[in-house]
Amino acid sequence: MGNAQLSRESPLIGEDVHVPVLGGGQRRYVDLDTAATSSASVRVALAVQEFLPWYSSVHRGAGAKSQYASARYEEARASLLAFVGADPATHVVLFPRNTTEALNTLAFRLDLQPDDVVVTTAVEHHANLLPWRRHARLRVVDVDARGTFTPDDVVAALDQRPTPRVLALTGASNVTGWLPDLVAIAAAARARGVVVVVDAAQLAPHRPIDMTAVGVDALALSGHKMYAPFGAGALVAPRRLFDRGEPMLVGGGAVKAVSFDDVVWADAPDRDEAGSPNVLGAVALAAAADELRAGGWTRLLAHERALVGALDAELAGVPGLHRHGPDSGDRLPVAAFTLDGVPHALLAARLSAEFGIGVRNGCFCAHPYMSRLLSLTDEQVAQFHRDVRTTDRHLLPGAVRASANRATTLADVAALGEALHAIAGTPELVGRYRIDEHGQYVPRDGSPTPAAPAC
Ligand code: ALA
Repeated sequence: MGNAQLSRESPLIGEDVHVPVLGGGQRRYVDLDTAATSSASVRVALAVQEFLPWYSSVHRGAGAKSQYASARYEEARASLLAFVGADPATHVVLFPRNTTEALNTLAFRLDLQPDDVVVTTAVEHHANLLPWRRHARLRVVDVDARGTFTPDDVVAALDQRPTPRVLALTGASNVTGWLPDLVAIAAAARARGVVVVVDAAQLAPHRPIDMTAVGVDALALSGHKMYAPFGAGALVAPRRLFDRGEPMLVGGGAVKAVSFDDVVWADAPDRDEAGSPNVLGAVALAAAADELRAGGWTRLLAHERALVGALDAELAGVPGLHRHGPDSGDRLPVAAFTLDGVPHALLAARLSAEFGIGVRNGCFCAHPYMSRLLSLTDEQVAQFHRDVRTTDRHLLPGAVRASANRATTLADVAALGEALHAIAGTPELVGRYRIDEHGQYVPRDGSPTPAAPAC
């Protein structure tokens, strides 16, 4: 990370990386896999660089650097509270590694009993299904053929007996970019005394969030999806949950006193942050949150609307392409699709090797949702589960996902459209690819490998 790179005007680092493509030459890398992870913003990288000379232990040192690092760590909590519109009087921020760890922690700390019911939906990422299933019974709101549901569908699940304790809902789908009506759904859940938990991993970099106004009790997000890839996410939740009971992870920093047969736990939030905190991650995440807030949302939302429109138009024109999920209404710039006659893994491999376009393929850590979107029968799902133990990945069901963010240009989306047209028109080129020992499609003549940057 050289200074020259950090001082550029460009908002994200790595926007002008060039990669070799089949047939020779280089192309500017088109990152359409931003829903998986995003590049660091220049502002975040600068914040990290400025903090590094002060890097030291948090809440464990008497030295000046430790005092400063501890203060920055606590300030980061304040930035996150402001970013999601949480009330500092009632809510607290933890810095887990990511959304997955945040939701595991929350599910553990809600003191759920095996007979408790958690209402969740078929749209969820595994991170918002498996932690709940471990501690309680799931009641799942299913989706229609477009991969959506209505607030009334959620209300019907909330009104079943026994009354659920928790509603665990995504703010935006990582597969289709669909945005459930959070305001209406949260209001219905709160009116019934149900704790509202939002997986905001996808939502946070794309839309303003106001937990207090919407009535969200707890929310999880990931730094690596919002331009702060330094290993911290956030869990924002009621302080009272973390001022009592045992934390999920035990160890140093989470305690006030320990003897061989007793422990006095620390107050929130320290109780749930055993081990040395990731202060660098917290500084980065706070910088990302501050940058998004300071930038305002108007321009970003307009840009994203333009991206959604361009994606819709490009994909609609490709012969044999099937879009999975809603193709109208307010959405993030994310699209999942398949192309007739081209396996999803091959399509993703060709986009990369021939066009320098990065996408993700497969089921996107949302297998139940994908099984609905692909209209898999129960038997096909069972076969998927049998195959996954033995078969090459390229045979498994799935789709290709293109996902964009604030750094994506309309030219990037046009490049995707052009590439898809070219691939749809040249099925014979499949012969240029073979399946490797990991079950991945790779060019027969060897992958064009990006050269390591000169130091
Ligand atoms: N949840 C991430 C994705 O959607 C990893 O790709």
